[in-house]
Amino acid sequence: MISTTKIVISFSMLLAILFALQVKDGESVDSFFDRPTVTVFIDNNISDFQLGVNCEDSHNKIGFRSLKFGETYSFMLKPNFAETTLYHCRFIWGTVSHHFDIYIQHRDRDDCKHECHWKINKSGPCKEKTDSEECFPWNPNLVKRIMLLMCNWINIFSIKIYVS
Ligand SMILES: *[C@@H]1O[C@H](CO)[C@@H](O)[C@H](O)[C@H]1NC(C)=O
Ligand SMILES: *[C@@H]1O[C@H](CO)[C@@H](O)[C@H](O)[C@H]1NC(C)=O
Repeated sequence: MISTTKIVISFSMLLAILFALQVKDGESVDSFFDRPTVTVFIDNNISDFQLGVNCEDSHNKIGFRSLKFGETYSFMLKPNFAETTLYHCRFIWGTVSHHFDIYIQHRDRDDCKHECHWKINKSGPCKEKTDSEECFPWNPNLVKRIMLLMCNWINIFSIKIYVS
């Protein structure tokens, strides 16, 4: 009997706590898991070329747009609770083509609480911060990536040989 009473009391307390969480600040428990929507702005800062931009994540294709100097490509994203949101873009001008990860949640979450502002330069994208900007190199191209991957395999392989 006592244990049943205990369970009932614990259960009521749990309900009370959940209810308190639910009504706190008029927000629901869901908002704890919810991240605010982020709008990403990508400006063409290359003065002598139109800049082709095409962004996507693994589920959504944002689509291709061609930007004149000073024009902006923008889209909204919803960061996830697991902090793994990743958006990737392709940039083309003249005969040049580059790739860049425009939103990496763990890299950008603090600079991009609601908005993320990027300026695209020939040398790479620059992210606007509160009082400064941070410039990044382009993602390595396919050949470099394959080389890196092969180096990693060789590393893993040699570690295995070393251990056994
Ligand atoms: C934008 O372009 C101008 C002119 O080339 C350059 O001086 C400036 O540093 C660029 N800004 C960024 C953020 O790349
Ligand atoms: C952007 O590119 C211009 C010209 O290519 C260069 O003079 C300038 O330093 C670059 N700015 C940044 C912030 O990378």
